[in-house]
Amino acid sequence: MDDPTTTEGQPHGSRGLRRKTVLRAALAAGVAAPAVGAALTGLPALARTVGAAGGTPTLTPECDDGDDPTPPQTEGPYFKPNSPRRASLVQSRTPGTRLTVTGYVFGLACLPIGDVLLGFWQADHAGAYDNVGFRFRGHQFTGADGGYRLVTIVPGLYPGRTRHIHVKVQAPGRRVLTTQLYFPGEPRNNTDAIFDPRLLMTVRDTPTGREATFDFVLDVPQQPGPQVVAPGLPAPRTRRATESPTVGAATSASRRT
Ligand SMILES: [Fe+2]
Repeated sequence: MDDPTTTEGQPHGSRGLRRKTVLRAALAAGVAAPAVGAALTGLPALARTVGAAGGTPTLTPECDDGDDPTPPQTEGPYFKPNSPRRASLVQSRTPGTRLTVTGYVFGLACLPIGDVLLGFWQADHAGAYDNVGFRFRGHQFTGADGGYRLVTIVPGLYPGRTRHIHVKVQAPGRRVLTTQLYFPGEPRNNTDAIFDPRLLMTVRDTPTGREATFDFVLDVPQQPGPQVVAPGLPAPRTRRATESPTVGAATSASRRT
């Protein structure tokens, strides 16, 4: 069980999803997704641009003013270093409800960050951690668009905690963010002292399992794009040569959780 003494004392309650919702809506519409927008064109983060237009205040970290990165949480007792590099933690016969988590990693200027290390670990369907091997443990790196994709199962419950996934996030050369991701609608969200509504994923059911989304905002300074350009319109490219997406595999593989 994780140490509840590190709770940040955040109020329990409804989640805010404005930034993620906007991002997903834009992706569905095929406009200005980070893969073809911010990372390559210098567009300010889509969510930032649209979010500034209005909407109700939320508790979800918003990439709009540079001072609200994704909050940290306790690591808990079950982290293990040197997890395998893999985006899928399941095999064909792995029991449990399939879960795919996707999202992006942004810096303080709402620009996506590539080659960010993401190390995930979680309980199995029965609520048990593998502390001997590496089941349900793995790390991966964001692509040049700042995106990531994790294939896993819905973690089981264990005493004292609500349903959650642990994660460590580290931009190249930056400090590690250790935090946890949560599921909406879980009864234990209201009684878990560690739970933080700012870390709720957006989750939907599909015929084959669940699909979740969560975008991280790291405390990484960035130079904002030079101008705001309407989605779908060409914009000047601002990414520097030193931010090449083709980071060497050896460098990436050497950084492990
Ligand atoms: Fe845990």
